[in-house]
Amino acid sequence: MSTLDFEIIRNENPVSAEDRAGILADPGWGQHFTDHMITIRYHKTKGWHDAKLQPYGPITLDPAAQVLHYAQELFEGLKAYRQADGSVVMFRPFANAARMNTSAKRMAMPEIPEEVFVEALELLVSTDRDWVPTTEGHSLYLRPFMFATTRLLGVNQPADEYLFMIIASPSGNYYARGIKPVTVWLSQDYTRAAPGGTGAAKTGGNYAASFAGQAQAVAHGCDQVVWLDAVEHRWVEEVGSMNLMFVYGSGAQPRILTPALTGTLLPGITRDSMLTLAPDLGIQVEEGKINIDEWQHGCESGELTEVFGCGTAAIISPVGAVKGADRAWTIGDGEPGPISMRLREELIGIQFGRRPDPYNWVHKV
Ligand code: COI
Repeated sequence: MSTLDFEIIRNENPVSAEDRAGILADPGWGQHFTDHMITIRYHKTKGWHDAKLQPYGPITLDPAAQVLHYAQELFEGLKAYRQADGSVVMFRPFANAARMNTSAKRMAMPEIPEEVFVEALELLVSTDRDWVPTTEGHSLYLRPFMFATTRLLGVNQPADEYLFMIIASPSGNYYARGIKPVTVWLSQDYTRAAPGGTGAAKTGGNYAASFAGQAQAVAHGCDQVVWLDAVEHRWVEEVGSMNLMFVYGSGAQPRILTPALTGTLLPGITRDSMLTLAPDLGIQVEEGKINIDEWQHGCESGELTEVFGCGTAAIISPVGAVKGADRAWTIGDGEPGPISMRLREELIGIQFGRRPDPYNWVHKV
């Protein structure tokens, strides 16, 4: 099966053009949703079926649905961007489809054909095209997700039934403060992921498990939490819900080091895009390991000039200062660094159609 017949049920009460304009003038992040959503059901014997584009709204779930008890759930995030000529593109939707299927294997969930995943996105974005912001830097955030609906409290096997959905949310800046560098907290008490666990899967449980660490970061006056490895608590893995990039910018040829995908890190699509883009801008890239001593000493010696988190939501989030139980240091001069900003400009340029796209990342809707 490569495609499905979607039943189209139009929203008879869409948000008025005036109200939509009001929302798009100041969308915030993840607070407003478009007029429609996608639902596709899965059953072990029937496969994927009952595909619908329908009005956005609440769904009913049996209280014994497995997801509510055992958290068999996955999600993805990508964006649609308005181009100068008014057309709309999505950024690397097939990469999200592939990652959802990798996550599905880890969570013992069904894979969804990549063409169905992308066709469903295209249908939602083209139907709700008027919701794609025209404001510079804003976009339509797309959230595909899938969860177990089988009514069963037994925990010996994965569910037989699932619901795949896509919702869409006009989005402004992920951080209300814009791209001002964040202060991060080195979490020694909590870990995000352990070897053999689900850290590489985009499953909600990883995010649920992060809230206590994030709250601790805030309690220490920081914006985000840095996740260290679960074994030695000193190898740097991620920041908040983002991958981390370390820029050694003091030499003639700048270099970026990012923690390798060891199975405990999320394989970010923005991370992958940076690793592809940077060499074409004369910046070497390396996937490796960095511990907190190396991070601190690199900043103190002036060799490590910039550090940033990267992800779909924020694109690039510079890190300006680091705090831990027994140490604190700053990175650069507290302003976003030139290499971080250059990479950001290049990537955003491709997404908004201001730069050529030699990588075929943009997908016209
Ligand atoms: C991203 O950086 O895109 C994320 O994964 C954050 C998202 C969970 C809001």
